Amino acid sequence: MAQADAKRLLARPVIFLGPPGAGKGTQAKLVATHYGVPHLSTGDMLRENVQFGTALGALAKPIMERGELVPDDLILRMVQERIARADCARGFVFDGFPRTLAQAEALDAILEKQKSGPAAVIYFKVPEEILMRRMTGRRTCKIGFEIYNIYDRPPKVEGRCDVDGGELIQRPDDRPEVIRERVVAYRTQTEPLVAYYRGRQTLDEIDASASVTAVTNAVFSALGRLECRI
Ligand code: AP5
Repeated sequence: MAQADAKRLLARPVIFLGPPGAGKGTQAKLVATHYGVPHLSTGDMLRENVQFGTALGALAKPIMERGELVPDDLILRMVQERIARADCARGFVFDGFPRTLAQAEALDAILEKQKSGPAAVIYFKVPEEILMRRMTGRRTCKIGFEIYNIYDRPPKVEGRCDVDGGELIQRPDDRPEVIRERVVAYRTQTEPLVAYYRGRQTLDEIDASASVTAVTNAVFSALGRLECRI
């Protein structure tokens, strides 16, 4: 029921906001597939640039490996170019964007210009000890960026993606010392966005520490609540 209710909402963009390792990417893939809209992960876009050796990738690589945020102007240019493509006309799910107040304000201006209405923001709440386990156990497909976890979501064949057979790797920024820096960047630069969106009444929060299926249900319920409110 919650899923059917939420389905009408995706005329507007959706933002998944939360700390690193909270499960935003896992859920964004499921929700975007459900609605038939693109899943826009700025982390995946940057990793793709690193993989293909672009100028943006060369700039972003050392910053990402330190666990810091890539400068706003580079991110905004990349996002603007992506959402201008035809496949975003029916909506999209952002995962990992916006990440700073400047990014959030720039996105507001873009959405106002597009007359797409404000984005629905889902805030993923997870205790820090769970985040560490999720990130150190994460493995990602080199080809399609499918997400696994050696503890909670293992692939059928060790080291290989269930979807395309690609090699599963550990992200360089999933080392404990980099994870700590990413959490600091989140607390100082991204967490203030919770208050920013709460003030606009466009945010709903979920307990993202539960199982993947329980979190998916919570996301659809939150989208349904937001549909009534925004
Ligand atoms: P990015 O790739 O966006 O990383 P992040 O936000 O730190 O988020 P993660 O990808 O670590 O976690 P997630 O919440 O998506 O969790 P996932 O679903 O994978 O960014 C990387 C870097 O790029 C940044 O540090 C920065 O340098 C740069 N960057 C990106 N965007 C930027 C921006 N807008 N501005 C500036 N810089 C930017 O799940 C994690 C693990 O948990 C997986 O193993 C998964 O299988 C498992 N899991 C998920 N859900 C559950 C569950 N419910 N139960 C059990 N296990 C679960």
